[in-house]
Amino acid sequence: MKMSDTTILITGGTSGIGRELARQLRAMGNTVIVTGRDPERLHAARTVDGLHAFYADAGDPESLRILHRRVVRDFPDLAILINAAGLMRTLDLRRDGPSLEDLTREIQVDLKGTIWMNALFLPHLMRRERAAILNVSSAHAFVPLPIAPIYSAAKAGLHAYTRSLRMQLSGTGVAVFELAPPATDTPLYRAVHGPAHDRVTRPMPVEALATEAIEAMQGDRLEIRPGLADVLKLMGRWAPELAMRPMRGAVRRMQAPSAPDTGHARHDEAAGTGAVRRVPGTQA
Ligand SMILES: NC(=O)c1ccc[n+]([C@@H]2O[C@H](COP(=O)([O-])OP(=O)(O)OC[C@H]3O[C@@H](n4cnc5c(N)ncnc54)[C@H](OP(=O)(O)O)[C@@H]3O)[C@@H](O)[C@H]2O)c1
Repeated sequence: MKMSDTTILITGGTSGIGRELARQLRAMGNTVIVTGRDPERLHAARTVDGLHAFYADAGDPESLRILHRRVVRDFPDLAILINAAGLMRTLDLRRDGPSLEDLTREIQVDLKGTIWMNALFLPHLMRRERAAILNVSSAHAFVPLPIAPIYSAAKAGLHAYTRSLRMQLSGTGVAVFELAPPATDTPLYRAVHGPAHDRVTRPMPVEALATEAIEAMQGDRLEIRPGLADVLKLMGRWAPELAMRPMRGAVRRMQAPSAPDTGHARHDEAAGTGAVRRVPGTQA
C-alpha cells in the first residue's frame, strides 16, 4: 500500500498509538485528519502536530454520520481509514456494578464504533482505485486478558469482523489491515497498569509500534502482530489454557477483599469517566 502523498483519517488520532501514527504519516507527506473528543487534545493535534482535527464520538452513530459528511465533502481524496479510537478498562465481574450501558462501553466504542466507521466510509473508499482500512485490535484478541473481560471480548469480535471484511472486500481496491498491538507505552497503558508494571511487561515504545505498522502496510502485510502479539496468537491457537495461566494472579489480586490501593479495578464513579485503578502483575 502506498503510504505517502495520500489522505488518511485516523480515529483516536489525538493520543497514543493513533497520534504517533498520525505524526509519522504526516512526516511522510500525507494529509492527515484525526478525531477524538477531548477539546485540549484536539487543539494540540491542530497546533502542535499540524493535523486536521475534528470532534467525533466513536460510540455515537450520529456523531460519526456528521464526521463522515464533513470528511468526504472536504477531503474527497481520502484513501486510508485507520480505526484506532478505543478504551480499555479492568472490571471485576463479581463485584463492580456499573450500569448495563456502561458495562459494555468497550463494545460500543472499540467494536461497534469501528464497524460503523467502516460502513459509513466504505462506499467512498470503494470508489478509489486503491484504498485501505486499518483496524486496531489487540494481542488480547487472541488470548483474553481476564481482568479486562469486556475489552477482550470487543477485540476478539473486532478480529473476527476484520477477517470477514477482508474476505468480502477481496477483489475490490480496498485492502483490509489489522494491527494487533502488544502492551504499548501510551496513556491508556499507563492508566491501566501504572509504571510499576513495566518490570513485568516491558511495553513496546509507541514510536516503534507505529513504524512497524506503517512498514507492514507498505509491504501489504495484512495482519500486523508486533512483538509479543505474534506469540499470543500462536499460544491462543495451540495452548489456549496455558496462555491464560500467568494471568490467574492478576485475577486473584483483583478479587481479593478490598484494601486501599491493592490495585483492585474500580470504575471511577466520582469522576464519571469509567477510569480504573491499576491491577499490577498482568501480561499486557
Ligand atoms: N496501549 C496498548 O497497550 C494497546 C494494546 C493493544 C491495543 N491497543 C489499542 O490501541 C488503540 C489506541 O490505544 P492507545 O493505547 O493509543 O490509547 P490512548 O492513548 O488512550 O488513545 C485513545 C484514543 O482514542 C480516543 N477515544 C477514546 N474513546 C473515544 C470515543 N468514545 N470516541 C472517539 N474517540 C475516542 C481518545 O481520544 P478522546 O479520549 O479525546 O476521545 C484517544 O485519541 C485502542 O483501540 C486500544 O484498544 C492499545
